[in-house]
Amino acid sequence: MLVSSYDILRDAKKRSFGYPAPDYFDYDSAKCFVETAEKLNKPLILSYAQVFDSFFPLEDAADIGLYLAKKAAVPVVLHLDHGTAEEYVEKAIDLGFTSVMLDASTDPFEENIRRTKEIVKKAHPLGICVEAEVGHVGSGSIAEDSGVYTEVEEAKRFTEETGVDSLAVSIGTAHGVYKNVKPVLNFQRLSELNEVLEIPLVLHGGSGTGDENISKCVKNGICKVNVYTEFLLAAAAALKEQEGDLHTMKAAAKAAVSEVLSHYYNICGE
Ligand code: 13P
Repeated sequence: MLVSSYDILRDAKKRSFGYPAPDYFDYDSAKCFVETAEKLNKPLILSYAQVFDSFFPLEDAADIGLYLAKKAAVPVVLHLDHGTAEEYVEKAIDLGFTSVMLDASTDPFEENIRRTKEIVKKAHPLGICVEAEVGHVGSGSIAEDSGVYTEVEEAKRFTEETGVDSLAVSIGTAHGVYKNVKPVLNFQRLSELNEVLEIPLVLHGGSGTGDENISKCVKNGICKVNVYTEFLLAAAAALKEQEGDLHTMKAAAKAAVSEVLSHYYNICGE
């Protein structure tokens, strides 16, 4: 069934655990994520990122996401990940997404507040949850890219002024594959943020972060862990090993992707 993320994430925050939020990029990945959540009997935060639009347009993603969510045996949140333009986020809302992220994290702080407030104004009357990001989670490696830690005072002011439902924080993870560095997470900062902020916190760049780090994060206020790259890596490795016809190879890739998601449920879980 299609649901909003509000209760799911609030409950996770109260009970100090989290959910993986996998990014789907075609029908097969979405179906695999839904079936995995059903098998585990867990809610699913089925996420679609704006960057996929060139090969998997938002309209198609909405049709597929809604179709699968509505007939799923478990609660499914349909979430827009990293919406960077208001028109795009509004289109996702109009198409039926139940949760949206406006990512204005590279804008000046006041501009991030102003833009997020506008989306909250549009989303909340429709019962749609809004995620935003303060600080900035970079990509590839913290050393090479512009990861900027979230400041506690800024995060506090941001959540009070915007009324967002969840906040992505930057504590040392990065999107994609870590190049030549192991992520070193700032748990001190995370616990300060968790103490001051009542809303659920979100960790971007889940792939490669490590089981121990993720387990520690979900005990300290992270309720949603975004994962994408590890699915691609697992599928590619399975395809390399599997011989046979296309159907056999696709089945192997699906099994590998499902295993990654199950693993994340396990390390994020209660
Ligand atoms: P990874 O690709 O590093 O798992 O990050 C995914 C993500 O944060 C999507 O928002």
